[in-house]
Amino acid sequence: MNSSFDSFIETEVPQNELIISRTNLEGIITHANETFADISGYSVDELVGQPHNIVRHPDMPASIFRELWQTLRSGQSWQGYVKNLRADGGYYWVHAIVSGVYKDGELVEYKSLRAPVDNETKIRMQREYDARREAEEDRTRVVLYLSRDEIEKVENLLNKGTI
Ligand SMILES: Cc1cc2nc3c(=O)[nH]c(=O)nc-3n(C[C@H](O)[C@H](O)[C@H](O)COP(=O)(O)O)c2cc1C
Repeated sequence: MNSSFDSFIETEVPQNELIISRTNLEGIITHANETFADISGYSVDELVGQPHNIVRHPDMPASIFRELWQTLRSGQSWQGYVKNLRADGGYYWVHAIVSGVYKDGELVEYKSLRAPVDNETKIRMQREYDARREAEEDRTRVVLYLSRDEIEKVENLLNKGTI
């Protein structure tokens, strides 16, 4: 059996414990609880000081996180389903609620609380994210596969104002 099989191993999020983390305004982890460390396969010390994308799973569409940051920057809280990557290449699903932490009325940090996700929702979200990723990545791929000639043609059309 080859080692890529490991990446399909799912870790179940416990029902009765909260996975908690906080970040600074740039998304660097400032606090992680033991449950977050356990579930992600890192120690608390390894997590604190790292960007929160340390647990970003490649199955997550980039647009989800763009929406998350836009929502936070507009002063609102964001919630949604997130598939996260464990240190050992496995994964776990959470429903996350991310919001601002205020001190004397001033935004100082962000915090995230997570709850477990039922199996039906995991399957539905995996399909939704697969489709969304494919749609987002296709747009990039077209550009990547253009030959030099084709790029020139497109540039000519752009210069002429045809497209
Ligand atoms: C409080 C907080 C918690 C976050 N939790 C996660 C998380 O569990 N998993 C994740 O992939 N991104 C999380 N993010 C978003 C990451 O900061 C990052 O935007 C995302 O992983 C995508 O990486 P990128 O921005 O480098 O593309 C969180 C952000 C904040 C502010």
